[in-house]
Amino acid sequence: MLLNRISIKTYLLGMWFIGISMLSASVEAAVQTDGPMVGAVTHVRAKVFLRTDAPAQVQIEFSESSSMSNSLKTPKEVTRYANDFTKIVTLKGLIPGTKYYYRVLVDGVAQQTENYPSFTTFAPLGQDAEFSFGLLSDVGNYVKNPAGAYKTLADAKPDFVLQIGDWDHRDPANLREMRKMHRDVRGSGSDAGADFSQFLAPVAPLFHMWDDHDYGMNDGDYTFPEKASAIKAFLEYYPLPDLPNPQAGPWYKFRYAQAEFFVLDTRSNRDPNGDVDDANKSMLDGENIENDQKTWLYDSLLTSPAKWKFITSGSPFNPTCKPADGWGAFVTEHDEIVDFVKDNNIKGVIILSGDIHSGGAMDDGTNSGLIEFSVPHTNMQMSPVNGGFTTTTPGDWSEYLNPGVSAGGSSNAGFGWINVLTNPDRVEIQVVHENGDVTNSDTIVFDEM
Ligand SMILES: [Fe+2]
Repeated sequence: MLLNRISIKTYLLGMWFIGISMLSASVEAAVQTDGPMVGAVTHVRAKVFLRTDAPAQVQIEFSESSSMSNSLKTPKEVTRYANDFTKIVTLKGLIPGTKYYYRVLVDGVAQQTENYPSFTTFAPLGQDAEFSFGLLSDVGNYVKNPAGAYKTLADAKPDFVLQIGDWDHRDPANLREMRKMHRDVRGSGSDAGADFSQFLAPVAPLFHMWDDHDYGMNDGDYTFPEKASAIKAFLEYYPLPDLPNPQAGPWYKFRYAQAEFFVLDTRSNRDPNGDVDDANKSMLDGENIENDQKTWLYDSLLTSPAKWKFITSGSPFNPTCKPADGWGAFVTEHDEIVDFVKDNNIKGVIILSGDIHSGGAMDDGTNSGLIEFSVPHTNMQMSPVNGGFTTTTPGDWSEYLNPGVSAGGSSNAGFGWINVLTNPDRVEIQVVHENGDVTNSDTIVFDEM
């Protein structure tokens, strides 16, 4: 009887050891597959995206030193199948205006051992600071098509980068395809993604919002049957500031010193383009939901303490541009927003928009109603026919409208570059060709707005 008890105990103990060692063997095997990518940076916080190939305990180790000395580690978190083994890790208690290096730990094992990625926390809120950021929009969905704009932008050392939609144009139909797209555009699944992960992701915080083709529905709106999947994949794969209504859509705002950014989701809450254009038609709140994006935008603009208020829109705000799918199909709401800004004497508003695959366009408010900069495409392949545009209705722009490809066939791929400057308060808006040439430059002086 005693022997039996001992042998049962020994057997159970043995099985426990085998179980534990099998478990640890499988956990130890996990590695990082995607990321790291930093975003949602503030003056005191940051969020880092990562993904593993299997369930694992993950942490971010970070330090002010490029050698990772005196580093801190975030609490252990677990990657899970339910979220495609992705994790967005928050770094707290950071010092404003400070450069941090970071690396990923998977089950305690460092996934980077040298040349650590870095970011710099934003300048303190409300204090005037001079800073620069990059603007990206519209990436071609071809596996073999690099994006030289990413390296040129990275070399310019932006404080952060905004990608405002169509990253890329594949219209993913379900959750699996959406997740793969998010990996491909930032990783080894495409030449452009490889450029992004090699050059831009290691040096600049990213803020992103979709347009139709990365939401998943061409000219898309709230009726997209896979809307919930699109939101789920987006929240899994992008480090985002805290969202006002994450179940309804990923719109958000963030601040940098004397500026605030209102990043609109102009797709998942949009009424269908073909609806009658009246007071009930909305690009921001088509379903008239609680805690809606339009009320949030108005309240945020009214209460913003910031001097500069940048509003991003995947679709062109200028109603003469792409009126079938832009704000030209929502003229009533467009005019209401313009009137709201003017009637409430809200200063410093600049619209940043995408979608037209141009080499950059600018309007002083003559056509757009508010000052609007249209971001050049990143690396679209297009032919010189049709004036060098992929749309037949690029519209009227008061300052300039560059085709996406010149008559000779050379691409006008590039990015937007914005310098926020002080004494006097002004904003420089530049079109930068992927080769680094500044194609256009405009200065907006705050006191002259
Ligand atoms: Fe596009």
